[in-house]
Amino acid sequence: MPKPYHLVAICMAIFFSTPVLLGQESDSSVVETDSAVMVNDTDDVFDPNVVSAGKELFDNQCAVCHQMTKRVVGPALAGISDRLEEEWLITWIRNSQQLIGSGDEYANQIFNDYSKLTMQAFDLSDSEIKSILTYIKSETANGSAVEDVVAVSSTTSVSVPQEDGFFTAVVVMIIFSGFLILVLLILIRSVITKHKKEKHFNEHGGSVIDLNAKEVSFLKSNAFLGLVVFIFTAIALKTLIDGAFSIGVQQGYQPTQPINYSHKVHAGDFEIDCNYCHTGVKKSRSANIPSPNICMNCHTDIKNVGGQDGISPEISKIYAAVDYNPDTREYGTNTKPIEWVRVHNLPDLAYFNHSQHVDVAEMECQTCHGPIQEMDVVYQYSNLTMGWCINCHRETDVNTKGNGYYDNLVELHNEKSKEPMKVEDIGGLECAKCHY
Ligand code: HEC
Ligand code: HEC
Ligand code: HEC
Ligand code: HEC
Ligand code: HEC
Ligand code: HEC
Repeated sequence: MPKPYHLVAICMAIFFSTPVLLGQESDSSVVETDSAVMVNDTDDVFDPNVVSAGKELFDNQCAVCHQMTKRVVGPALAGISDRLEEEWLITWIRNSQQLIGSGDEYANQIFNDYSKLTMQAFDLSDSEIKSILTYIKSETANGSAVEDVVAVSSTTSVSVPQEDGFFTAVVVMIIFSGFLILVLLILIRSVITKHKKEKHFNEHGGSVIDLNAKEVSFLKSNAFLGLVVFIFTAIALKTLIDGAFSIGVQQGYQPTQPINYSHKVHAGDFEIDCNYCHTGVKKSRSANIPSPNICMNCHTDIKNVGGQDGISPEISKIYAAVDYNPDTREYGTNTKPIEWVRVHNLPDLAYFNHSQHVDVAEMECQTCHGPIQEMDVVYQYSNLTMGWCINCHRETDVNTKGNGYYDNLVELHNEKSKEPMKVEDIGGLECAKCHY
């Protein structure tokens, strides 16, 4: 006889996975992540090595506050070399505060125009700064392309699987099958009692009853009892879990955060790149919530909104966390973390990896997290159930472009099928890929 433990484990796997793996239709449409490629027609004018070195510096050091054709935290930089002398630019970029302090008229003017936001000093060599300027020139020559890229990335509309209906169906199905099992059990029981009675009354009918003896003893065995008890507990639990979490509470979950931090302001209005704060998202499993030091990169100077005087109470909470005194501009040692409330949370049994999706598959954050750049307070946009993961893996083509790792797989796949290779074809439905 199998040990009750094994039985329970097998049943659990079958029970929990079947509805999801049966393959439901869903109108999940996956966003085209065709990243607009910047083609520089005028490349020959600029040394491509210098341009790419400049681009890297710009992306790492400047992009958080500057874009080419759009004012964000700092001014748009397209055409900057047409407007300003290279020498002035180098001095400014190396230490803008010093230039302002020296009384330079234009420096003071732009500083005031930008409500006295400080652009920090950069420890860059002349040639490094020149490479950044060359990169900006090359982008300027190509200005329209840049605008296109900005437009594409900010207007991509997304939709995700609508699964509320599916889960209601699962719950209904479970309750219904629970009911069926109950009826069956009552039937079986009455049959057994009937047989017992017959045996008792009719000693000559022994042969008929003997035939059933094995089944009767199985039905009375501990394993069977265990199974019945398990099925009922599981049904009750599953219904409870689905009812409490999958449908109602988690999707749309929007806790109040300790600081009134707004993605709409930062990622929307000021277009700060998600990666600037969520530094792990392309490299690791976890996206990371930024430490207050990252906030301080800007908020040592941005003390209030709209250039108002005084310190916003919300921003003073950041100062409290890093023990910063804005009057003396000094840091103390009495730091304490900001206790952000977690919005998205998979149970421990499931494994999810951001870099696999964001870096390898080049998916947009918004596909899973919705229009974060429009949220003042973050809420959970997708339901994060197993069905949600699986559905997308069934329907999404693997991004094999420029990824040598997939060449062999694609070849093998094309021999077998004419359909494009989906995530399920590379093992995206295997239990062990998502469960330890
Ligand atoms: C923390 C945000 C921030 C970062 C990072 C930053 N800047 Fe700035 N930058 C500003 C702000 C704000 C201004 C407007 C002047 C002011 O308030 O000081 C500015 C102004 C400028 C100007 C003058 C623009 C004009 O129209 O006159 C140039 C040029 C410039 N930045 C280049 C750079 C370069 C190059 C880098 C990267 C090495 C960089 N900035 C990094 C915030 C930033
Ligand atoms: C790249 C620069 C930058 C970074 C980094 C940054 N902010 Fe901001 N923050 C801004 C700008 C710009 C504003 C809007 C200022 C305005 O409206 O004049 C702002 C506004 C705010 C406000 C609104 C203040 C109020 O009174 O309404 C809060 C709160 C805030 N930020 C919190 C944070 C926190 C927390 C972090 C770190 C997780 C952070 N910021 C990181 C640039 C930044
Ligand atoms: C200036 C820093 C900053 C930028 C830029 C930023 N975030 Fe955040 N993000 C935070 C902070 C701080 C939190 C934690 C507080 C909260 O939930 O609002 C957070 C929380 C989140 C969460 C919820 C995490 C959880 O608790 O489950 C998601 C999802 C998220 N960000 C996605 C994005 C996306 C997508 C972008 C780009 C469009 C982005 N963020 C840009 C700072 C930032
Ligand atoms: C394929 C769907 C998917 C994509 C694409 C995606 N995320 Fe997530 N994100 C998740 C899931 C699922 C979780 C919950 C992970 C957990 O609890 O282990 C999560 C959690 C987070 C968190 C909370 C902290 C953490 O790492 O657990 C942040 C912040 C976040 N995502 C930011 C981002 C940003 C920024 C991007 C885009 C660069 C992005 N996500 C793209 C599905 C996605
Ligand atoms: C909107 C679509 C989408 C959603 C939702 C999604 N994924 Fe994926 N997932 C992908 C794509 C696309 C890949 C293929 C990445 C690649 O090229 O390796 C992938 C790959 C994976 C892989 C690697 C598979 C392999 O065989 O190498 C794992 C593990 C994974 N996803 C887990 C999850 C989990 C767990 C969830 C739910 C919490 C989830 N995914 C939700 C699109 C999605
Ligand atoms: C693409 C990723 C993925 C694959 C493949 C996958 N699971 Fe899951 N599974 C999840 C996630 C995510 C959860 C958590 C869902 C939730 O919290 O509602 C989960 C939850 C579960 C649970 C807990 C019950 C529940 O509904 O909360 C069981 C049991 C389970 N999976 C079994 C399996 C089995 C068996 C297989 C293989 C046939 C499998 N899973 C394949 C992602 C996956």
